[in-house]
Amino acid sequence: MASQWSYFDIPPSAARLTGSLRDIGYDFHTAVADLVDNSIAAGASQVDVELVFDPNASYVLISDDGEGMTPAAMLEALRFGSRRDYAPNELGRFGLGLKTGSFSQCRRLSVVSRHTPVRRTCTVRTIDLDYVERVDAWAVLADEGGPGIEAALNRLEERPGTVVVWENLDRVLPDRYAESGWGRRRMASLAKKTAEHLSMVFHRFIAGSTGTEPVTISVNDEKLDPWDPFAGDEKNTISLEPEIFELELEDGSSDIAFRGYVLPPRDKFSTPERFEHMSGPLKWNRQQGLYIYRANRLVQFGGWNGLRGIDEHTKLARASIDFDTDLDETFQINVAKMSVVLPATLKNMLERPIHDLCVRADAAYRQSPSDVDSPRSSPKSASSDSVALREVGVALKAALLESQDLPVFREALNTLRQRHPDLATSLGL
Ligand SMILES: Nc1ncnc2c1ncn2[C@@H]1O[C@H](COP(=O)(O)OP(=O)(O)O)[C@@H](O)[C@H]1O
Ligand SMILES: [Mg+2]
Repeated sequence: MASQWSYFDIPPSAARLTGSLRDIGYDFHTAVADLVDNSIAAGASQVDVELVFDPNASYVLISDDGEGMTPAAMLEALRFGSRRDYAPNELGRFGLGLKTGSFSQCRRLSVVSRHTPVRRTCTVRTIDLDYVERVDAWAVLADEGGPGIEAALNRLEERPGTVVVWENLDRVLPDRYAESGWGRRRMASLAKKTAEHLSMVFHRFIAGSTGTEPVTISVNDEKLDPWDPFAGDEKNTISLEPEIFELELEDGSSDIAFRGYVLPPRDKFSTPERFEHMSGPLKWNRQQGLYIYRANRLVQFGGWNGLRGIDEHTKLARASIDFDTDLDETFQINVAKMSVVLPATLKNMLERPIHDLCVRADAAYRQSPSDVDSPRSSPKSASSDSVALREVGVALKAALLESQDLPVFREALNTLRQRHPDLATSLGL
C-alpha cells in the first residue's frame, strides 16, 4: 500500500542481500586494510591484527586504541550504509567497509568497543549471517559470547578502543579444512600476505609522514615497518621534482600531485637484500608504475593505468599520484578501495612527465652492468641495427636530461623530430 508520501517503501530482504554483498571484490588482506582505515579514522595510534588458529573455532581480531563507540554509534556503524557525514580527507566513504569487508571473509562479525577511559564498560554487538538468514532481518545481537569476544574484551581492559572480531571464517577456512594442518598453514600465509599489504598501503601512516602521529600496526605480534615504494632512504634513488596538476570540478578545482622516482638498479642499492625487499609483493616488473594515494592511503599500485605497458626496461620507474577525497567521484574510487580510474584530462596531463620518467628509468636500467631479471639485449639479435639505434636514442635522451633543463631537452627533441622524422623514429624518440 502506498504511504502518505505516495511511494512504496520496500526495504531489501536481508537474507537475500547479505549473500550478494559478500562478493564485492575483497581479498583477506584488502578486507583487513579496510578495517585498519576505520581504526586510523578513529584516531588510533596502535592497530593489532591477530589471526588465531583454533581447530573449528578460529577467529581474527583487529584491535585499536581509537576513540571507541557509544552503543548508539555502534548500531549506526553496523548499518549497511552507515548514515554519517565525513570531514575532508577522512578515510571512510560509503559506510560499508566494516560490514562488506568483514562478511567477505566470515559469517559472524562482532564489534566490541569501549568509549570511555574511566569505566571499563564495553558494548558488544554481533551480526551473524546464519541468524540474519533465519529471521530475514538486519538483526544485530547484543552481548554474545565466545572465545573471540572474550579475547576482544581482554584487549580493552586497560584502555578505550574498538575490536572487530571475525568468527565462522567460512571463506578463509572452508569446513573440511577448519581443523587441519592445511588450515593452520593457510592462516599463517594469510598473515604474511596481510603484513606485506598493510606495510605498503599504510606506509606513510606507519612512518608518520602524514603530519599526524605515527601509527603502529602489528600482525600476529609482529610490528610492521613501512614499505616505501620509492626507497626514499636509498641514496641512489632519484627523486624528480614534484608537479601539481589542477583538475576542474563542478564547484571549483582540486590539485593532484605527481612525483616520479627512479629506483637504483641492483648494483646501486645499499645491499642486494634491500633490492629484493624493494621488489615488492608483485616483484619489480609489475611494481613499476603509478602509486595512487587517496588522503595518504595507497589505493592502487603498480602498472600505468593504460598510459603505457609494463616493460622490463622501465621497471625502476615508480611515481606517486596524490588526490584528496573531494575527487572521489572523479577517480571513481570503489568500495573495496582497490582501484581508481584516472580521469581522461589527467591522463593527458600525465603523458609527458611519465614519458620523461621512463626515459630516465630506462637509462638507469641500461647503465647497470648486471641485472638479474634479464641479461642485456644481445647485439647479435636479428634486429641488431634497430636495437643499437634505440640504445643510441636512449643514451642521447639520458645525456640531454642530465642537463636538468627540461624545456631545452624538449625543444631539442622536437627539432630533431621535425627535421629528421625517420631518424627520430629509428632512435625511438
Ligand atoms: N574501529 C572503529 N572505531 C570507531 N568507529 C568505527 C570503527 N570502525 C567503524 N567505525 C564507525 O563505523 C562507521 C562505518 O564504518 P564502515 O562500514 O567501514 O564505513 P565508512 O568507513 O565508509 O564510514 C564509520 O564511519 C565509523 O563511524
Ligand atoms: Mg570504513
